[in-house]
Amino acid sequence: MSVHASLADAPTTAAGADPGSGRYDGASMDAIQQHYDLSNDFYALWLGGSMAYSCAMWSDPEDDLDSAQLRKFDYLIEGARATGARRVLDVGCGWGGLMERLAGAHQVKQVVGLTLSDSQAEWVRARASDGIEVHVQNWLDHTPTEPYDAIISIGAFEHFAREGLSRSARVAAYREFFARARGWLPAGGRIAIQTNIKGNNARMDRQTVRDLLFIIERIFTESEIPDLAEVIQGSERIFDVVSVRNDPDHYARTCAEWLAGLQRNRERALELVGPEQVTDYERYLSATVGHFERRHLGLARLVLEAV
Ligand SMILES: C[S@@+](CC[C@H](N)C(=O)[O-])C[C@H]1O[C@@H](n2cnc3c(N)ncnc32)[C@H](O)[C@@H]1O
Repeated sequence: MSVHASLADAPTTAAGADPGSGRYDGASMDAIQQHYDLSNDFYALWLGGSMAYSCAMWSDPEDDLDSAQLRKFDYLIEGARATGARRVLDVGCGWGGLMERLAGAHQVKQVVGLTLSDSQAEWVRARASDGIEVHVQNWLDHTPTEPYDAIISIGAFEHFAREGLSRSARVAAYREFFARARGWLPAGGRIAIQTNIKGNNARMDRQTVRDLLFIIERIFTESEIPDLAEVIQGSERIFDVVSVRNDPDHYARTCAEWLAGLQRNRERALELVGPEQVTDYERYLSATVGHFERRHLGLARLVLEAV
């Protein structure tokens, strides 16, 4: 099956289904690079050996960060039915931890990763095992020559709608992503997504409002976290929902571990990025622990199947 044939067959073009907008309405490459190109060595100080910059999946109090990150990778890989697959796409591949897990323990022959960060791509290229390729490319510009067997996207969806869009514009932005992804998969192919979502506790104190604004203005510029319902609506009549779980406490614990790692390595962090950045990251990570604990934020792990 050619990718183009698959795109033409995709139900987004079928009667009754509204297609994607054809546009990218997410964070710009500049905004992404401002955050992720800060310094690979700085992120390595506190992300742990997996270099995963996304919520881990914890099992018990004795668990450590690296094992919990591998458990998260395995959960999403199994959900996407990617074990032993020929080709898998990682949208928003970061520093490549998932790609290594796919090519190694899960024996995937070809793993393609997309990122908007030059520094992340350099990091991946310097370490990549056989079968791994990384592109500095927006998913909107991705035109694979062959379909993928499965797609996984971890912690990138938060950037797919710019801050300040209306709800319907956000849904349209997500719908565009799902329409593209559907065109790269066979019928029955799966996509596994992990994303922060807005939590259902609207009762915010002033400090929470200040900290959320600080994060939008200084840490993750041009990005807005979706509502779970918007993600689902964006996928309607393109993908069927297989499973959804919400793990806010897992992200509170992950951020607490990152903060502890940053504080253990504070002197080196100051040398690498300077006091202003270190203070900003400490504030962002410690505030975020509370946002998940108080359910102002949630953490969705979704598995969807192409219809
Ligand atoms: C929080 S990081 C997560 C990285 C990785 N998945 C992980 O779990 O460690 C977000 C990633 O999404 C990528 N990203 C954001 N918007 C993107 C887009 N439109 N196209 C491709 N990659 C994008 C960033 O470059 C970055 O690699």
